[in-house]
Amino acid sequence: MSKEFKRYTVTAALPYANGPVHIGHLAGVYIPADIYVRYLRLQKKDVIYVCGSDEHGVPITLKAQKEGVTPKDIVDRYNKIIKDSFKEFGISFDIYSRTSSKTHAKTSSEFFTNLYEKGEFIEKTSNQLYDKEANQYLADRYITGTCPHCGNEKAYGDQCEACGTSLNATDLINPKSAITGNAPTLKETKHWFLPLDKYQPFLEKWILEEHKEWKPNVYGQCKSWFDMGLQPRAVSRDLDWGVPVPVKGAEGKVLYVWFDAPIGYISATKDLTPDWEKYWKDEDTKLIHFIGKDNIVFHCIVFPSMLKAEGSYILPDNVPANEFLNLEGDKISTSRNWAVWLHEYLKDFPNKQDVLRYTLTANAPETKDNDFTWKDFQDRNNNELVAILGNFINRVVVLTNKYYAGEVPEPEPQEFRAADRELKEQVSELKETIDKNIETYHFREALKNAMNIARLGNKYLADSEPWKQIKTNPERVKNIMYMTLQLSASLSQVFEPFLPFTAKKIRDMLNISETDWSIIGECNLLKQGHLINKPTLLFSKIEDIEVEAQVNKLLETKKANEIEQAVAKPQKENIVFDDFTKLDIRVGTITEAEKLAKTKKLLKITVDTGIDVRTVVSGIAEYYKPEDIIGKQVSILVNLEPRKLKGVESQGMILMAENADGSLAFMSPEKTIINGGEIK
Ligand code: MF3
Ligand code: ZN
Repeated sequence: MSKEFKRYTVTAALPYANGPVHIGHLAGVYIPADIYVRYLRLQKKDVIYVCGSDEHGVPITLKAQKEGVTPKDIVDRYNKIIKDSFKEFGISFDIYSRTSSKTHAKTSSEFFTNLYEKGEFIEKTSNQLYDKEANQYLADRYITGTCPHCGNEKAYGDQCEACGTSLNATDLINPKSAITGNAPTLKETKHWFLPLDKYQPFLEKWILEEHKEWKPNVYGQCKSWFDMGLQPRAVSRDLDWGVPVPVKGAEGKVLYVWFDAPIGYISATKDLTPDWEKYWKDEDTKLIHFIGKDNIVFHCIVFPSMLKAEGSYILPDNVPANEFLNLEGDKISTSRNWAVWLHEYLKDFPNKQDVLRYTLTANAPETKDNDFTWKDFQDRNNNELVAILGNFINRVVVLTNKYYAGEVPEPEPQEFRAADRELKEQVSELKETIDKNIETYHFREALKNAMNIARLGNKYLADSEPWKQIKTNPERVKNIMYMTLQLSASLSQVFEPFLPFTAKKIRDMLNISETDWSIIGECNLLKQGHLINKPTLLFSKIEDIEVEAQVNKLLETKKANEIEQAVAKPQKENIVFDDFTKLDIRVGTITEAEKLAKTKKLLKITVDTGIDVRTVVSGIAEYYKPEDIIGKQVSILVNLEPRKLKGVESQGMILMAENADGSLAFMSPEKTIINGGEIK
């Protein structure tokens, strides 16, 4: 028997305010949590959905240093962008707070003091990596080096993103400062450690025995941490950005970001309501943390240990962590700009928030990493949203307006058929399945079930053919339309958690405002005589050129990354000076140019070399248009043995510089030189 809870506290991981949010964030954390809370709200449950910006820690200070601005500049900028993006996508937080707030400084500081006074910390002086030139200790992302587990050369001091292992800065092989690039030295410093080993027996019992229902990826990761044996973990850092460690003699030290950030959920709740305690301290409250897989250890092991040590808080009932979403086959990466940024998506696809919500839920990385592709996005829109849901609602609203001037018809009791009862039963069954799936965090399945309700509607219409029967059997058509109108009302509720903008549009068309989960599958929400509105379009087709533009944008990013990461080829063997002087290279001016017929890459170019006017065939058609290069001065090797290319004799070679992506550029003199001027 699962326990009945009186209320729900739902948290979504606080995003670092060091960059905008992308589709990976939405798919992994904020949409699933949003579906869950919208579902609970529709059932009139007492639920709060809390989130906010994570504004401390090295990701923030590092970004500030790189840009030459203050950490506050960074967090102010991104807090706003992130908050706006969430709002625009209908992520319905009850509060979106910030860990730089006063409430949070006080809450996290008191939390630390509480544990400190109870003697829950170990105080330890140890050697930490230090950058002499920058005058700074190098914790977490201030240090990079080779991962001792997988050999990735770009592992950070707190984590290797390649293999997911969480690390200590001193574990790295060949460590390098992220500020100066220097090899660090060691320097003594004092820190406070939370003895996780002490909590291991409790945690093992709580998770491994009492929460076998947790998702396999979460349960499995916890188990492997326990198998390795938990170690004390430092909860302070030598940094000047963060919540100061509230202990005498701790000047220049702040709380570790992973100590203060989860307390941010509590601070946010305090900012939301003076009645915050019941959401955090009452056993009848169900606490659920929605996170990405890289946050599992912090939410299942570290934060619960903190809460347990404090003693008055409840622990999470579940931590439904998602795996990662990739983009077109590649890991999403902020630093490589390999992402679909929400604020950019909205510019390219205004008012199509629900299309993205739909695609990301249908393809959510619930059990394994998954791939977002623009093709899938287009297909889901055109073949599912437009063709199934949009089509059904549109037909119902159009026909009701056509047959009854928008008035819900009165059904005849004797005109109900087995097909009607079957439809009602099938919808009720699907509703129950949706309930079960949402309650167990299977949102992809739940969305599929919801779409199947619309599919049933289309099948019902296709089978009963009201457009044919209207002439022969108008009485029966009243019942058919009555059924499909009730089904449309059900759809406006059932899609509310998944596609809130669309659900609202459907309700507007049906002229209803009620939102209540329990009416799904019922047949009396729209009373006879109720007037509905005129049809509006729910979804529109996404054309090939729209998704091609997105794919091209990504290809540009890929090229830019290749160029940025390119390394020069090794030098060729030495030659003697005489060998060099054999090459007769001159400045010439292009006087004519045309595409060489039946070729893709070749241009036939006429060059005035000062010596003569000659023809050269050059493989640059992909990079230059003939009309753009006329009059251009170039470098040309004039004493190269002529050779025939596609039937044209090429008398020399125009010298080109090659970029990392294979593109070519002329070697033009920096100021005008006479034709025939020697290059030496
Ligand atoms: N900022 C972290 C990240 O993006 C998540 C923090 S969640 C919290 O990975 F619990 F610490 F708030
Ligand atoms: Zn690794």
